[in-house]
Amino acid sequence: PTAATANIGVVGLAVMGSNLARNLASREGNTVAVYNRTWAKTETLITEHPEAGFVASKTIEEFVASLEKPRAALIMVQAGAGTDAVIDELSALFEEGDIIIDGGNALFTDTIRREKAAREKGLNFVGTGISGGEEGALNGPSIMPGGSAEAYEKLGPIFASIAAVAEGEPCVTHVGTDGAGHFVKMIHNGIEYADMQLIAEAYDLIRQGTGAAPAEIADIFAEWNKGELESYLIEITAEVLRQTDAETGKPLVDVILDQAGSKGTGVWTVQNALDLGIPVSGIAEAVFARALSSKPAQRAAASSLPGPAEPWTVDDKATFVEDVRRALYASKIVAYSQGFDAIIAGAEKYGWDIKKGEIAKIWRGGCIIRAQFLNRITDAYNDDPELVALLTAPYFRAAIEGAQESWRQVVAHAAKAGIPSPAFSSSLAYYDGIRAPRLPAALVQGQRDFFGAHTYQRVDKEGTFHTLWSGDR
Ligand code: ATR
Repeated sequence: PTAATANIGVVGLAVMGSNLARNLASREGNTVAVYNRTWAKTETLITEHPEAGFVASKTIEEFVASLEKPRAALIMVQAGAGTDAVIDELSALFEEGDIIIDGGNALFTDTIRREKAAREKGLNFVGTGISGGEEGALNGPSIMPGGSAEAYEKLGPIFASIAAVAEGEPCVTHVGTDGAGHFVKMIHNGIEYADMQLIAEAYDLIRQGTGAAPAEIADIFAEWNKGELESYLIEITAEVLRQTDAETGKPLVDVILDQAGSKGTGVWTVQNALDLGIPVSGIAEAVFARALSSKPAQRAAASSLPGPAEPWTVDDKATFVEDVRRALYASKIVAYSQGFDAIIAGAEKYGWDIKKGEIAKIWRGGCIIRAQFLNRITDAYNDDPELVALLTAPYFRAAIEGAQESWRQVVAHAAKAGIPSPAFSSSLAYYDGIRAPRLPAALVQGQRDFFGAHTYQRVDKEGTFHTLWSGDR
């Protein structure tokens, strides 16, 4: 019989699984068992990486036998049916107290279901968000585990050993029970969509407004990366814009087809926010902007529709670029504020005790939205754990105060020039909506009462009211 020597196992050895297994094996104290449905992948991994000292198994039974108790196996297989199949196989062999970890991009409601089923069998199930792509998996991702506190006792140190490190701290925290980790990973991806769309709009406005070439805009982004916008996404944007196409000699960005795809986590974020009643409008616009881009037939049909009569020119290039930078920062604050609103609402609905400041902290390294800026979010929630809206925290209030005139200028310019800026403008509309002393929602209530007797409440007394409108017969 196989000796139980491994403290952690990985099932599923495609790129993410292989890289996480190698990352685990490279850390002091870990012995890593590996298993893949098809032996060839396992063979490749162990042949190419003898230094990892993997304990490889050809069958799931041997794999389970090679794990020390309580056993812990990280599943990195195709989300959905693949995950369920592996969970079934492991559940049949695992014993009470053992831990099944799903590190794939599962929908958090699936994770809630799987955790419940595992718990009923006496097993631990830990749905874990892992961000940072292939590179992060190998060298240090941001890790967002859910599941029980008991399971985290064993897993915490293992996760900490492989996570990215930001300012001396590993980018991992126990997010909350059952599906909390996958929920927060989903919101992370939604915020990522908004961040990317905002950056893309900033680029488009500068390019169309000033006529600057992509390489020149790359310099602008590289400069921005030294200030409050410092982030991985700004950094890679500069790199992308600087890239020349080897075949044509053109800026690469000009030969890439302008139709953005997605894998679904952005859509999930918006779907869930709709269910929770949380206006994540910046994220939604980012998802819709990708959808719009990917409709070639509609775009071709609409391409002859008229735009503004007057050509648009920017008077002062440097001022405009600075205005766009400020508009980007203000819009980004709105996107994060909305994302954290969704986290707060999800935590309330699903009974998770999520420490918002800790979430911002573990996003500082490894993941796609990593940025200095996240420290300001942690500070805001440390100063006031019950903060109702991130954008009202003193630091963000001041940042928006300094940016809002520019923000309005840029959105107005974009509208006049006919340059689509859905995320910039919807973020501004959200800002003006949320801060408004009175909203026309009063009129909507009147309309609803008129046609459907939906009733309304009054500003001057308690109770529920219905008016006998002249339309009533
Ligand atoms: P990638 O796109 O990087 O290849 P993926 O499709 O998310 O990754 O996951 C592929 C992994 O899931 C593979 O390890 C695959 O096993 P095989 O190498 O045998 O194909 C694994 N996988 C998919 N469905 C599975 C199932 N039903 N049972 C076990 N493993 C499965």
